[in-house]
Amino acid sequence: MIGVFDSGIGGLTLLHELTKKLPKENFAYYADVANVPYSYKTPEQILGFVENAVLFLRKKGAKMIVLACNTATNVAIEYLREKYSFPIVAIQPAVKVAADFDDSKRILAAATPVTLAANRYKNLVASLAIEDRISNVALPKLVEFAEKGVFDGEEVEGYLKEQIETYNTQDYHYMVLGCTHFTFYEDLIEKLFENLKTVDGNEGTANQVKRILEKEGLLKTEGSGLVSFYESGEVVTNLGKYVKLMLRLRAN
Ligand code: DGL
Repeated sequence: MIGVFDSGIGGLTLLHELTKKLPKENFAYYADVANVPYSYKTPEQILGFVENAVLFLRKKGAKMIVLACNTATNVAIEYLREKYSFPIVAIQPAVKVAADFDDSKRILAAATPVTLAANRYKNLVASLAIEDRISNVALPKLVEFAEKGVFDGEEVEGYLKEQIETYNTQDYHYMVLGCTHFTFYEDLIEKLFENLKTVDGNEGTANQVKRILEKEGLLKTEGSGLVSFYESGEVVTNLGKYVKLMLRLRAN
């Protein structure tokens, strides 16, 4: 089984990509609903939450951990990789994907304030030498809207306009969705800002998961895959919310 972690429902957008790419694998999805949103927590707190969840998933038998949370990656991945030897694949804001598309266009990178403040993220941007054509926008409330199941309507549209219109969107071509919750809004963002093309790290991360499973000889090649769900250490028995969200992602 592969353990997939996020603070809440955001990582379902990566889980969706993973189940498409690896239909024979079993997955356990862990949503840290007791602590979401991570935006208002300290890096030390987040590190503790993430390590707890990772160890929980390992105890359940995870052969690999996927951090489906950019915030968790930026706070915890170096620490986890140093301390543990099992495979961990971690999503990060897809700024390289956006930068590689077209090197003359400006990039708007949206993420949580924790991700944008992290040295790991700053080093990633510096390594691509794109500081002069990237702007960062923190959208912590989008995580809260998603957790409340608000995916459209006046309030969320108003929030997106208010935050994004402070940038001259005509100058930008790509918007990086550097938080897995934001992928639920890709269509809405592209509808509201016609010249912005959204980019996320889900497909690249799913490809990386497959590559590592193959390399480590861990790929499951028979049977059909199952997904189980956990919320902050408790098994989820009423799957209604998760089924609805997975169907929503499948419909797009
Ligand atoms: N889905 C998480 C991410 O990718 C959201 C973090 C949060 O605010 O809880 O960053």
